[in-house]
Amino acid sequence: MDTGTAYGLRLGAPLNDLAQVGPGTPYGEVLRRYWQPIAKVEDATTRPVLVKILGEDLVLFRTRKGAPGLLHPRCIHRGASLFYGGVEEEGIRCCYHGWVFDTEGHCLEQPCEPELGLHRDRVRQPWYPVEEQYGLIWAYMGPPEKKPVLPKYDTFENLAHDEQLIVDDNGVGGGGPAELDFNWLQHWENVMDPFHVPILHARFSGNQFTPEMALIPVVSYEYTPTGVRSIQHRDLGDGRQLRRVTEVMFPNLRVVASPKLSSGQTNMIGWVVPQDDTSFRIFTVARDADPDFLRKLRSTHEGKAWKDLTDLEHQRLPGDYEAQKSQGPISLHSEDHLTTTDQGVAMVRRMMAKQNRIVAQGGDPAGVIFDEAERVVRIEGGNYFEGAPDAPLLAAAVED
Ligand code: FES
Ligand SMILES: [Fe+2]
Repeated sequence: MDTGTAYGLRLGAPLNDLAQVGPGTPYGEVLRRYWQPIAKVEDATTRPVLVKILGEDLVLFRTRKGAPGLLHPRCIHRGASLFYGGVEEEGIRCCYHGWVFDTEGHCLEQPCEPELGLHRDRVRQPWYPVEEQYGLIWAYMGPPEKKPVLPKYDTFENLAHDEQLIVDDNGVGGGGPAELDFNWLQHWENVMDPFHVPILHARFSGNQFTPEMALIPVVSYEYTPTGVRSIQHRDLGDGRQLRRVTEVMFPNLRVVASPKLSSGQTNMIGWVVPQDDTSFRIFTVARDADPDFLRKLRSTHEGKAWKDLTDLEHQRLPGDYEAQKSQGPISLHSEDHLTTTDQGVAMVRRMMAKQNRIVAQGGDPAGVIFDEAERVVRIEGGNYFEGAPDAPLLAAAVED
């Protein structure tokens, strides 16, 4: 008799406590305890835009005085959307009856009421605090009494005179659209999966990065105070050893040095920001002298850019997008068969569940900073060469 057939297959279920991001969900509450990048600074203008973050629809704008504001879109008067509002010196005016709200939701004016609203200070448009840093707008969407300081990262401090910060919100390096249409965790936990690199990005689909990355590494993992770290050793066969360190930092940072192997501490960090349970964006900040640094990092597929691939080429040369989206809108984690090389993924999931418990019990999750003096976060991830340090890299397999 045949065994193991698909007859009667049960599909299983996601780890919703980790994957879901909406208000009141376990990990949604963890995510809300940290500042999140929500847009590039240039996206906040006097024309309001709708943004979706952690399952919430919000309106982002910039007053004529230059302050960014992030408000709940439904006007507290009678519900018209502030997307149709007009931006003024100090705030935004609802199109319907003209109430004006500042960036903290204070009602400044009710033009049809006596004296522009004798009781206007009794109402408040729901709002979130925002700050601008590293070319991004950051929002804090959690409980006000738990608001941490907005961290800085040593990677982005003290730029050399020829360096600049480069910001990108354009999908995954391995190819894909800017707005990714599947659950964010499939991408984030992939950061602790160094073994997909020599398979997916090399043996299967041709060298999408460099020949060194095609070597199967020897990997160890460790918990850090702020996340999980992988330490990958590759013997390059020419007297050099490559020690590549990648990190996930809570709640959704990816610290992955260039897979094209620039040497030393990584010059870039990414934030995997859920829009809702089945879509996310990745905001990446890099420091480099070349303003095109991030664009040049994108993997190529037999010389072609991801967006130019035919259906057949997507199937024949899959990258991160094809692999991770095909896990499903939200992966059915209960059906996974984790093995020794999934240790990093298992550690991420375990540490996420621990943060859920900490937050549910009223504690502070890993890495939130309340002390201004501890605001600068040290980043360890990078590519570190040992052996003959000046030996050139193997010729790059693909041209930009
Ligand atoms: S609905 Fe906004 S002012 Fe009336
Ligand atoms: Fe990848």
